[in-house]
Amino acid sequence: MVKKILFVCLGNICRSPAAEGIFNQKIKERDLENFFVVDSAGTGSWHVGNLPDQRMRTTALSRGIELTSRARQIEENDLYEFDHILVMDKDNLNAVKSLIKDDMHTMNSKIKLILSYSKKSQLDEVPDPYYGGQNGFEKVLDLLNDAIEELIDSLID
Ligand code: 4NP
Repeated sequence: MVKKILFVCLGNICRSPAAEGIFNQKIKERDLENFFVVDSAGTGSWHVGNLPDQRMRTTALSRGIELTSRARQIEENDLYEFDHILVMDKDNLNAVKSLIKDDMHTMNSKIKLILSYSKKSQLDEVPDPYYGGQNGFEKVLDLLNDAIEELIDSLID
C-alpha cells in the first residue's frame, strides 16, 4: 500500500519544501520510492505558485538536495487525501486542525508535529527561518534530516 505524506508550514517556501526534498532524497537512497507519495503545502496563500525561497534552495543544494516544488495552500481535501500530515510548528498544527469539520475528528490522529519523531532534538517546533540568517536555514535542514529519518523508519515498520 502506498502511503501519502504531506508536509506543512506557513508559506510553503522554506521548511515544508525542504522536508519534501529530504524525504524524497531518503526514500530514493533507501530504494523505497514506490511505497510513498509526498507533497507539501502552506497554511498561507502569499507565495502560491512560487519556487522555494532562494536561500533555502541554495542551502539544500549544498547538501545535494534540489528543491523544485511550487508553493500551494493546504485545502480541506488534503485531510482526506493524505495518510500523514506533518507540520513544522504549533501555529501550523492549529491552522491545519481548524480545517477539520465537526464530523471528521478522527482526522486529528494523522496530523503531527514533525519533531515529535526526532530522538535527538529537544525542540518541539522547526523554527521559521524566513526573517533570520543563514544559520537558520542550516538548522532547519539539520532538524528535518534527523526527524525524517525516524519518520521513514516508523512508516516502514
Ligand atoms: P515557511 O517560511 O513557512 O517555512 O515557508 C515562511 C515563508 C514566508 C513567510 C513566513 C514564513 N512570510 O511571512 O511571507
